[in-house]
Amino acid sequence: MRLPFLDRWLKREPPKPAKPKYAPRRRRVLVTDEDDDEEVRPPHQGFLSDRRSMFILIAALVAIGLTAGVMLIERRLASTATDARADRPAQVALGRTLYRQQCSYCHGTDREGHEDWRPTTPIASGLSPALDERSPIVDRSDRQIFEWIKYGGQPFLPSGTRSQMPAFEFNLTEAQIWAVVAYLKNRWPDEVLARHELANKREP
Ligand code: HEC
Repeated sequence: MRLPFLDRWLKREPPKPAKPKYAPRRRRVLVTDEDDDEEVRPPHQGFLSDRRSMFILIAALVAIGLTAGVMLIERRLASTATDARADRPAQVALGRTLYRQQCSYCHGTDREGHEDWRPTTPIASGLSPALDERSPIVDRSDRQIFEWIKYGGQPFLPSGTRSQMPAFEFNLTEAQIWAVVAYLKNRWPDEVLARHELANKREP
């Protein structure tokens, strides 16, 4: 089956007509622009031999370069961020790594919390709460979650109770804590995120 498009793409020239046995007498021909079409291109000499494949290569290199540039900028933003955005992939990815290292031991690999924890469990019970969409942190602002991670649970619990939640002030930079917050928010469904936005408006 002949696919003219593919042939052109692969630069496979259609077979040349056999040379006539006796060369016709040379005649001077006035070449016009109309004559200058595909068929009279110079013979194919490899993939990069013509402008079109060169153009494709350069376009591909530019695209790769731009993508790499955007990724680097995103990473840089993630490591200097001062807020938590669930829709910033580089920040969420950084947060996921940190969460696995620092938090999953108590809060579960998938933010599910201690197996005996229920949404009705009192805060100072010593059981690690879920941090997914069932969590009480949905109704706390980004800043409150950030501070809880930074300073640990003790300053926020009723007096006379002992927090099991360590402070990460000296283990994580502020940008890293924001990244963890972005990761926690990342998989909350839209309606939960909307509820959380109300908390952000209430307590910025
Ligand atoms: C040693 C276990 C442990 C580790 C590690 C831990 N937590 Fe906690 N976390 C808890 C417990 C237990 C609570 C419940 C309150 C308390 O005891 O202070 C809590 C509470 C919280 C809360 C507040 C929940 C609320 O009701 O507002 C957040 C947010 C939180 N943790 C996030 C994290 C993050 C993020 C990390 C990792 C950077 C982390 N925790 C690491 C045990 C832990």
